[in-house]
Amino acid sequence: MATSFAESGADLELVGISKRFPGFTAIEHLDLTIPAGSFFALLGPSGCGKTTTLRLVAGLEDPTGGRILIGGKDVTHTKPYRRPVNTVFQSYALFPHMTILENVAFGLKRRRIANAQQLAHEALRLVELDHVAQRRPAQLSGGQQQRVALARAVVNRPALLLLDEPLGALDLKLRRQMQLELKQIQGDVGLTFLHVTHDQEEAMTMADTIAVMNKGEIEQMGAPEELYELPRTAFVANFLGQSNLFTGPVVSAKGDTMVVDIAGRKVSVPRERAQRHAGEVTIGVRPEKVALVTSEPKAATGLNLVGPGRVVDVSFSGVSTQYQVQVPGLGVQTVFSQNMVFGSIVNEGAEVWLTWNIDHTFGLADDADVAPRFASDEDTSAIATQRRERLEAELEGA
Ligand SMILES: Nc1ncnc2c1ncn2[C@@H]1O[C@H](COP(=O)(O)OP(=O)(O)O)[C@@H](O)[C@H]1O
Ligand SMILES: [Mg+2]
Repeated sequence: MATSFAESGADLELVGISKRFPGFTAIEHLDLTIPAGSFFALLGPSGCGKTTTLRLVAGLEDPTGGRILIGGKDVTHTKPYRRPVNTVFQSYALFPHMTILENVAFGLKRRRIANAQQLAHEALRLVELDHVAQRRPAQLSGGQQQRVALARAVVNRPALLLLDEPLGALDLKLRRQMQLELKQIQGDVGLTFLHVTHDQEEAMTMADTIAVMNKGEIEQMGAPEELYELPRTAFVANFLGQSNLFTGPVVSAKGDTMVVDIAGRKVSVPRERAQRHAGEVTIGVRPEKVALVTSEPKAATGLNLVGPGRVVDVSFSGVSTQYQVQVPGLGVQTVFSQNMVFGSIVNEGAEVWLTWNIDHTFGLADDADVAPRFASDEDTSAIATQRRERLEAELEGA
């Protein structure tokens, strides 16, 4: 029950969850297990179903199918206020007429917790704002208000804390600072954090596990490094950082290495880093793993080579330079080069070859152009319902 304090975080389990709105499938079949005490990020573009997932966990939305378990207990049909869950939203909505302390103690007092004041001070110390306990929200900066909102959620010791883009309203610098603080707080309190964001850098900085979500489904889940170094789908390869992707037929897949014909060049992938081993496959490499050379290198074992191509854009960003290289038959590829000398090493218009370590190549499970999901929803009766509702609303308005 929500009225008891959790000593530690709880596991969250979503089993075969689906959610349909009239005429729209937001989540198709979601299976997800978040171990107790972890900092878990749900990462995906706007509209992919992140907020819907959080609302289902919080009990603000009923699933169309499937079950939700918190700490092993089925809460699918449990009222929101009886779930051991707290949510921090993007808009932090503090009570303007109350002091900071009163804001944080509010929930505790309503639940008649005896030492509400003392617990509220503790929570404020955690976010380093106890010194402003007697001020009102309007006297605090946006970043400070967001920290108060966090204190207000953490003070309840929910077994599970849901964060829906809680740093979205902050400017970049404050956001980076808050990311580190939030991670620190999670470590200190040991609760389970489920953090939703569309910012890949934020997810990688903060989470110990990331689930990349696309159109209501989880495409891939794992530690940030794992997802980055070995993306399994084109979506993950492009949403989490950038990738150079090439498509071609497998010409051999014997032994430890798979060889793919990429516009006439033989490009190799370690077999264990490839999801598919026959037919047309898409393989890729991260831009910072690729080196540019201005004369064709001799074939060397352990290296892949494509080109020649032409540098079509050079953009210098201080720590690194980003090159865009047009390679006939492959389109435009990207290379990041760390700034070890003064300025850029290759100029626009130069003829270059791209080379990288075979071990850095990955092979995808799908193709770069993936078919849309949930296309079949078009002709459901749900759409008719939605149309009727819209029509009725229009008639009323007329
Ligand atoms: N009450 C609703 N009725 C119909 N469609 C909805 C409703 N809530 C959300 N959606 C749709 O579900 C999809 C997922 O929304 P949401 O979970 O808010 O995405 P995210 O938080 O990832 O941006 C969106 O296409 C959105 O328009
Ligand atoms: Mg959202």
